[in-house]
Order: sequence, then C-alpha cells, then structure tokens
Amino acid sequence: MKVVVIGAGYVGLTIACFAEFGHNITLVGRDKNKISMINAGKPPIYEPGLGEILMRGIKAKKIKAVDDYGAINNSDIVFICVGTPSNEDGSIDLSQIKTCSAQIAEQLKHMEKFIVVVVKSTVVPQTTINIVKPILENVSGKKCGADFGLAMNPEFLKEGDAVEDFIHPDKIVLGVTDDRSYEILEKLYDCLDKNIPRIKTDVTTAEMIKYAQNSALASRVSFINEIANICEKFSVDVKTVAYAIGLDNRIGPKFLRAGPGFGGSCFPKDVKAFLAAAKNAGEDPLMLKAILNVNASRPYRMVEMAEKAVGNLGGKNIAVLGLAFKNNTDDIRESPAITVVKELLKKGANVRVYDPQAMDNARKVFGSTITYENSKEECVKDADICMILTEWDEFKSLDLSLVKCPIIDARRMVDPEDAKKHGIPYMGVGWKNNIR
Ligand code: UGA
Repeated sequence: MKVVVIGAGYVGLTIACFAEFGHNITLVGRDKNKISMINAGKPPIYEPGLGEILMRGIKAKKIKAVDDYGAINNSDIVFICVGTPSNEDGSIDLSQIKTCSAQIAEQLKHMEKFIVVVVKSTVVPQTTINIVKPILENVSGKKCGADFGLAMNPEFLKEGDAVEDFIHPDKIVLGVTDDRSYEILEKLYDCLDKNIPRIKTDVTTAEMIKYAQNSALASRVSFINEIANICEKFSVDVKTVAYAIGLDNRIGPKFLRAGPGFGGSCFPKDVKAFLAAAKNAGEDPLMLKAILNVNASRPYRMVEMAEKAVGNLGGKNIAVLGLAFKNNTDDIRESPAITVVKELLKKGANVRVYDPQAMDNARKVFGSTITYENSKEECVKDADICMILTEWDEFKSLDLSLVKCPIIDARRMVDPEDAKKHGIPYMGVGWKNNIR
C-alpha cells in the first residue's frame, strides 16, 4: 500500500518499518537537512535497528522523504505523526495537528480517491472528532466517511526498542469513524502477525487508551519511587520488594525499577496533558496529580542524597554518569539527569559528564558550563562524588577500583556489596544501608 507519513520524528520514522513488508512509505517533513539524511539512509535520531531498515528501504525505493504534501494524491493512507508538545500550563498544544490537518485537506480537495487519514500523534480525547474532522471537512469541502476516511491509531513503541515494538506490538488499536477505514487499515496491518489482538473501536476511545496506558505505566514508576523512599527510612531494599511483589501475576515485574524519576518526550507531557484535559472537562484526577508530584521531586532527592554523602556541594567535582532519560537513546528531553545537573550547577559544583550517546544533545543544553568526558573511567577519575543517573549497561561494568569517592546510584547499577569491598561509601535509590 502507499503510505504517506506527515512528521519524521520517532513515530513517523518508525512507520518506515512497513517498507520491510513491501509497503511504500513517503515521509513528509519540514526540515530539509533531516530529509536529506533520511534519503541517504541515515536516521536523524539514534534508534537501534532503524538505520538498517531505512537504508534497505531507500535502496529498494520503498522509502523516500520529501518536503511537500503532494505525495498524498497518490496514497492509500496518510498518517499524522506531528508533535503534540505541552503548553506552559501543561495542556496539549495542537497547533501542528491543526496545520497538518489543513494541509492534508488542501490535497483532499482535488482528490477522487477514498483515502484514510490516520491520527497517530498522541492527542487528548475528542481531538480527532472535534478538531481534525472539522478541519478536514471544512477545508476540503469533502465529507468524512463518504469521500475520505478518518481513524486514530495510537502508537505504543518505546524509544530504544522502537523497531521491535513496531513489528511485534502487544496490540493494534484501530479507532475508526467508518468501516471502510477499518478495512483499509486491517489490510495495512495484515503484514504483521495475525495473532496480534486488534481492538476495533471509535476514535475517542483509541485516544483515551493511549493516555490511560501511559498514565498506568507512569503511575507504576511513581509508585515504586515512593516505596523506595519509604524503604530507605526502614532499611529495606526496594529491589527485593519490587521483585517479590512483581511475582504476583496480578502485579507483574515490569516498570517497577525505582530511580531518579521518569523522563522522555512522552510520560511527563502526556500525564500533564491528560490531567489538563480532565480538569477542563470538570474532573479533578488525584492520581494523575500524585504521579506528577512524586516524579517532580525525584531529581532533587538525588541531589539531597549527594549532599548527605559529602556535605555542601559548592566547589565539589561531581562525576555524572548518564544524561539520557533512559538507556539506548540519545534523547535528553525531560531527562531527570538534566534537572540534576542544573541543580548541581546552581549549588556551585563542578560537573563533568559522560553518556554513551547523549553528549551532543547535552552540549546544546549546557555549552561550556560543564566538562564532557570521553569515557566513564575518565569521568570518575579524581571526582568527589559519582552519580549514576541513566541505566546504561556499560555502567554495570564500572571498574570500582578507579572510583575513590562516594557513589550515588540512582539506577541501582552497582552492587552495594562490591562497593563495600572497595571501601566506597554507597547510596542507592531504595537501598537499605545508605550512608547517612
Ligand atoms: C513510553 C511508553 O513506554 C511507550 O509504550 C509509549 O509508546 C511512549 O512512551 C510514547 O508515548 O510515545 P518511552 O518514553 O520511550 O516510552 O520510555 P519508557 O521505557 O516507557 O521509559 C520512560 C521513563 O520511565 C524513563 O525515564 C525510564 O527510565 C523510566 N522508568 C521506566 C523507570 O524509572 N522505571 C521503570 O521501571 C521503567
């Protein structure tokens, strides 16, 4: 099928995986530089496996990137994958969705063929029906359901595992306004395993599923972080607690890793937007507020741990291992590590950092205010304190004989017993014997 994707960010780029199954993908973006990179088979983001898929697709002429909406004329399906950032008050900013819908509608105006417009961007409930649909109809003069189809198909991929999540999703949620759109989308997704559950629903339920799911996951992270705080007070190891409760199959083991708080381009933004939308609709969701409040306190708690370990941080040399919001990505958006570094700088510390992928992005934020090291070993050399803030695998193999200072382990990467053997004072999130 001929698929046009508006927006070449994480979600948009990952749709290129359909090319592996024979579909033709045209990515429409605004940034000329990005477009040339994609056409050269180079993904503009770091995402394992995506480079190979792009390269194969470009060579086979199954993927291309362009900067104009004309490609829609020759398509079967158009995916809207533009950004939905937060406004100052946390509510969702739909300006890109509106512009993009109007531009798609300009193409629909002259088209005879029935195509399906699919919202894949994360949008608050009722956006597709109350905002996208009227724009498409009013600008094109065409009728939704008769002249074109409309659907909402949320994406559940995780950064770092995007390709795998795209090809082997747990479910496919197809919110549609009409049966014809459902049939066309079914045909598109037929290339994936037929046993993947498909949820046929209306567009607003599809939007709600996405927010409910991200909020549920974020709530688990805030929950275990709160338990970690309490564990620290009672000399209990949160890892043992998380492991034990996770064995109950009503709870399950995933998303129970205590840490410096969740970050990234999704959870913080989505829970805030969901909260704002609920409030706007007359609800006061206490749980959503609590998820955000617990999370907002996490980076400051990491800094307090550092203060407990070495006292005043002014003039101290602090080695920060990890800046990305999680491992296997170069993404530092809303990363708790960034808040930690900013706070350390405010307190007058000398900060030196190392991250396997996120150094370039960090330079854009911190410029010359911090020192960038080439390896974890160089980073920890002669430091007064070492803070591990991202769960990169390589930090598990940190040579402790090189560490001559207390460790603040926000991701529980280091074995506290090993630290003890090396005579290193150790403080970990939810660890029972934190130094005081
Ligand atoms: C998240 C969801 O997991 C995806 O299903 C969803 O599609 C995506 O948002 C989105 O809405 O686009 P992502 O933001 O890539 O994916 O990352 P996650 O793996 O969910 O991690 C989010 C944050 O929670 C990270 O900062 C991570 O370190 C933190 N986390 C996660 C913990 O602190 N503890 C855990 O046990 C799990």
